[in-house]
Amino acid sequence: MKINITKTQSPKEKPQGSLGFGRSFTDHMFIMNYTEGQGWHDARIVPYGNMEFSPASSVLHYGQETFEGMKAYRSNGKYYLFRPEENAKRSNYSNARTCIPEFPEEDYVQAVKTLVKLDADWIPEGKDSSLYIRPFFIANDPFVGVAISKTYLFIIILCPAGAYFGSLNPVGIRVEDEYVRAVRGGTGRAKTGGNYAASMAALARAQEEGCAQAMWLDGIERKYIEEVGTMNIFFKIDGKIVTPALNESILSGITRDSIITLCKDFGLTVEERPITIDELVDAAGRGTLQEAFGTGTAVVISPVNKLRYKNKDIIIGTGETGETSRKLYETLTAIQRGEAEDKFGWCVEI
Ligand code: COI
Repeated sequence: MKINITKTQSPKEKPQGSLGFGRSFTDHMFIMNYTEGQGWHDARIVPYGNMEFSPASSVLHYGQETFEGMKAYRSNGKYYLFRPEENAKRSNYSNARTCIPEFPEEDYVQAVKTLVKLDADWIPEGKDSSLYIRPFFIANDPFVGVAISKTYLFIIILCPAGAYFGSLNPVGIRVEDEYVRAVRGGTGRAKTGGNYAASMAALARAQEEGCAQAMWLDGIERKYIEEVGTMNIFFKIDGKIVTPALNESILSGITRDSIITLCKDFGLTVEERPITIDELVDAAGRGTLQEAFGTGTAVVISPVNKLRYKNKDIIIGTGETGETSRKLYETLTAIQRGEAEDKFGWCVEI
């Protein structure tokens, strides 16, 4: 794929001090168009900036869009991406579910690599820091009728990022037992904005009750654990690592998959199976709910110290970050930063 590059004439100041997540952006962005009959065309990198859309652009009305989250790291003067081909593959799964045209996986990885290389001096140093990469597809027909768009944009933006919730700071999670995120046959397994729009009311309730995110139960029986706001969820119960088995309403997390691999490598038993909220309440009562943690690209590992369910707090383990959560975080981030052996071949040099 040929990518035209127009470099910025006025590079921005890089953020100083604590980076936070997702509020500052690098100097450039990647854009490519799709037009029915012509396919994907005009791959280009241009200075980062606001874009002009018709107010009728279909994504603004019906949310036909998909996105990904990836990270780039700096290590010994080299730059690495973590499992980028998995994002390219998942992106095409999400696109197929939302009728967005397929995008060639090698071109996807090439676009990310080219943009990150150009803005590589934005990749922050530091243990909890990385360059967060947000590739996304949007439908762009200027048409207010409900229809499958004939034109799309593929855009990639980059944000220097620190820890999402603060490094390994345990968070409280509210179990949402009224609203649901996804149902059988819905878009739960696709990474599409509508799933997140549907989550805001539950997030607001969680925050009102002092929690960081909401944990979703299944949409039919309101009984099985699915996932948490921005992450997949794991529990350590009686020494075993347990996580909900994937189904069509759970996002197939790349970090989730990496953590399962690492847990098995540590010699831990991992069970991917249905988990009910009652099982967690019982385990907490018996003192066997030892740890809980979320996994995701943005959060990496986010220890959970409390589940708030039906106005009661269930304290997990000692209420502090657990030893397995900490070991997984240290191991995964060391692999990502090139400080530990990459024995699973996850890091791709740019
Ligand atoms: C990610 O972890 O990359 C996500 O996409 C979650 C989120 C920030 C929406």
